[in-house]
Amino acid sequence: MSAEGAALGSRHTPLIERFRERLPFAPEDPVVTLQEGSTPLVHAPVLSQMLGARVYLKLEGANPTGSFKDRGMTCALSAAVRDGAKAVICASTGNTAASAAAYAARAGITCAVIVPEGRIAQGKMAQTLMHGARVISLQGNFDQALELVRELTDSHPIVLVNSVNEYRIEGQKTAAFEIDEDLQGELELLCIPVGNAGNITSYWRGFAELGAAPRLFGFQAEGAAPLVLGHPVTHPETIATAIRIGNPVRWEDAMSAAVESRGSIRAISDQDILDAYRLLAAREGMFCEPASAASVAGLLRYGPDGARVVACVLTGRGLKDPETAIANHDGHIIQCVAERAAIEEAVLGEP
Ligand code: F0G
Repeated sequence: MSAEGAALGSRHTPLIERFRERLPFAPEDPVVTLQEGSTPLVHAPVLSQMLGARVYLKLEGANPTGSFKDRGMTCALSAAVRDGAKAVICASTGNTAASAAAYAARAGITCAVIVPEGRIAQGKMAQTLMHGARVISLQGNFDQALELVRELTDSHPIVLVNSVNEYRIEGQKTAAFEIDEDLQGELELLCIPVGNAGNITSYWRGFAELGAAPRLFGFQAEGAAPLVLGHPVTHPETIATAIRIGNPVRWEDAMSAAVESRGSIRAISDQDILDAYRLLAAREGMFCEPASAASVAGLLRYGPDGARVVACVLTGRGLKDPETAIANHDGHIIQCVAERAAIEEAVLGEP
């Protein structure tokens, strides 16, 4: 570990340092880190009560750019720098873009991102622009964007940092190590949203490397559920823009993860997602983005199926997508003039 890292103590150990013996990096390799990983696993009393199981939430929004992507990106960018790359690129529904942009800024290399026009949440766009990435707004969806960047990187020396990149999967598998450690091997079921299917692939790899065998329940939004339907979806639609994906690149790996773990990949409606999104915020105090709530929505819809210890991955934080929150909360704002009586009525009067 670097001297700077050592001074801060183990909770602050960068992901590659913490799990180096299980990752494809040598001690002398450069590490591009924002001190990602080691995220909280928080008990969820309300969900536990509702479901009759011990339910935990893995808060991946606690990563530096606010999503689980940072686990994969520290590895993808460290490998890119080690291998002499000067530029990275990705297609993204927003979080991969924000993470790639941040780690590229840290590494001092160029980053370009291709995002579907009008379909990326504002917080993610703000991050990506602030980190100085070149943002290309595509008149098309995520699947088209990914197809185009794959073609581009075939003929130009730019490193692709989508989850086709093996380093992304390697980095993201560490979340499984952390959960297994925190629950001392007691996890019986993991619920996770599925979009491009890199993350469910990563978790399964992580658990398999440990010889742990929780069941994996993956959840897709009904309007963007190719893995459930068994064929690509040409025009995916869902309020959860992060998982608005019709042709996941890790299709086979995700299906293997579901089958080998004796789990499943199932669909939930946008209404289920919004209900879980509001419940998490209002009752558990956890504000995640809509795609993240898909894990809890699926658990509530289908139940824990006999599992006694369950973890739901909250993949990204709520602040990523303020528009959806403002449009879907149960609260209201009370207008008030600056006078004592009016304030009294506003604070203490009938709601
Ligand atoms: N949750 C969030 C918040 C995401 O941003 C994503 C994917 C997923 C879940 C699904 O993970 O793709 O590994 O199955 N976001 C990608 C992006 C596609 O471009 O940010 P997956």
